[in-house]
Amino acid sequence: MLTEKEKLRTLARLGMNLNQVQDLDILMEKILTEARRFVNADAGSIYILEGEELHFSYTQNDTLQKRLAGGEKLIYSTFTIPIDEKSIAGHVALTGKPLNISDVYKIDPTLPYGFSSKFDKASNYRTCSMLTVPLKNMRQRIIGVLQVINAKDESGNLTPFSGEDENMMLLFASIAAVALEQAKMTRATVLRMIRIAEMRDRKETGMHVLRVGGYAREIYAKWSEKHEIPHEKVIINNDILSIAAMLHDVGKVGIPDKILQKPGKFTKEEYEEMKKHTWLGARLFLNEDSEYDRAAMDVALNHHEKWDGTGYPGWVNPKDGLPLKEYALPDGSARKKKKEEIPLFGRIVALADVFDALLSKRVYKEAFTEDEVKKAICEGKGSHFDPELTDIVLDIWPRLLNIHARYKENN
Ligand code: C2E
Ligand code: SIN
Ligand code: SIN
Ligand code: FE
Ligand code: FE
Repeated sequence: MLTEKEKLRTLARLGMNLNQVQDLDILMEKILTEARRFVNADAGSIYILEGEELHFSYTQNDTLQKRLAGGEKLIYSTFTIPIDEKSIAGHVALTGKPLNISDVYKIDPTLPYGFSSKFDKASNYRTCSMLTVPLKNMRQRIIGVLQVINAKDESGNLTPFSGEDENMMLLFASIAAVALEQAKMTRATVLRMIRIAEMRDRKETGMHVLRVGGYAREIYAKWSEKHEIPHEKVIINNDILSIAAMLHDVGKVGIPDKILQKPGKFTKEEYEEMKKHTWLGARLFLNEDSEYDRAAMDVALNHHEKWDGTGYPGWVNPKDGLPLKEYALPDGSARKKKKEEIPLFGRIVALADVFDALLSKRVYKEAFTEDEVKKAICEGKGSHFDPELTDIVLDIWPRLLNIHARYKENN
C-alpha cells in the first residue's frame, strides 16, 4: 500500500503524466491503474458519457486477471446504461455526487439505486465495497464516472473505502477528467483528419483506422514485453504508435477518387499511382522535433515495405518521392528496404493493416474467413512480415479478433 507521502507525491506527478498520454484507450488504462493503486482496490471501471448514455468503456480486475494465464489480458464487452437514478453509475452521473457503498448486496431497499449482480454471476466474482465518483471537466460538466471496487487492507482483506479514500478519489478524478477530455479531443481531431483524407464514400475506413491503431498497440505491447522495454517507455511509445498507426493511410488524400474508389482490380498504372500514398502521407509529418510526427512519418512511409525487400516505396525522399541519392538504382528506381531497415513501427503497422484488410470487405474484394486470414498471415511470415512480429500476432490472435469485434463498421 502507498504511504500518505507517496500518495501526495504521486498526485503531484499525476497531472503531468496523464497529460502526456494522448490516446484515449491508453489513458483510461493509466487512470484506472493509478486510481486503484491509490485506494488499494481489487477492481475498477470507467464509464464515459456518450450522448444521453453512459458507455462502459474500460475495466480492470486483479482477481479475474489472476485466473488467466500469464500475460493474457481480460477480454470484456462494452455496454451502455441510461443516466438515471436506478443504477449506481447512473445515479452518480445524474447527481454529480459520489457514492461510497460498503457492501453493494446490502443497499437499503428504500434507496432509488441498486446493484446488478449479473456480472458477478457471469464471472463468478463477489463485488463488495464500491466507491463511485463523477468525472467532471473544467467547466464542471460530467464527462463520465470512475468506479473502484473491493478495497483491501494491508493484509489483503476486504474493507470499506474510507472517507479519506473518497477525498483522494475526488481529487484524482478532477485531474483525470481534464486529461480524458483532452484525449477525446485528440482522437476526434485525428478521426476528422482521416475522414477528410479517405472517408470519401468509403464508410468502413473510420473504423478501420481505430482497429489498426488497436492492433498495433497490442502487438507493440507484446513485443516490448519480450524485449524488456521499461514500462514507462512502453506507455509513451504505445501512445505515439497508436496515433501514428491511425494515420497510416492519410496520404490517400492525394490519390484521385477514380483510383481510390475503383470497384475492381487495379491496372498496373493505377497501382503505381496508389503506391504514392506512402510518401504523400509521410510528407505531412516532416517535423523532426516531435516524436508524434516522427512516428507518423515512419509509419506512413514504411507500412507497405516487406521484410524480404519486395515492398514499396523503398529509400525515397518523402518530399518528392524520388530515390535518395545513395539509394538510386541505375534504372532510376529506389533501392528497397528490407528486414530491420524498415522501422519497427512500420513493420508492426504492416501486419495490423493487412490483418484488417483481409478480414474486411473492400470495394475490390470480399472478406476472408478467419482461417483464410490466419493462413495468409502465416504464409507472409519471413517474406512479407517480420517473423518475430508474425509469431506475436498469432500468439495474441484472440485479442486482435476482440478489437475487430469492438470496432465494427457503421456504429
Ligand atoms: P487496403 O485495402 O487497406 O489493403 C492493405 C494491404 O492489405 C494491401 O496493400 C495488401 O498488402 C493487403 N491486402 C488487401 N487485400 C488483399 C487480398 O485480397 N489478398 C492479399 N494477399 N493481400 C491483400 P496493397 O496491395 O499495397 O494495397 C494498398 C491499398 O491500395 C489498399 O489498401 C487499397 O486501398 C488499394 N488497393 C490495392 N489493390 C487494389 C485494387 O485492386 N482495387 C482497388 N480499388 N484498390 C486497391
Ligand atoms: C471506445 O474507445 O470505447 C469508443 C471510442 C471513442 O469513444 O472514441
Ligand atoms: C523503441 O524505442 O522501443 C522502439 C522504436 C523503434 O525502434 O522504432
Ligand atoms: Fe496503405
Ligand atoms: Fe490501411
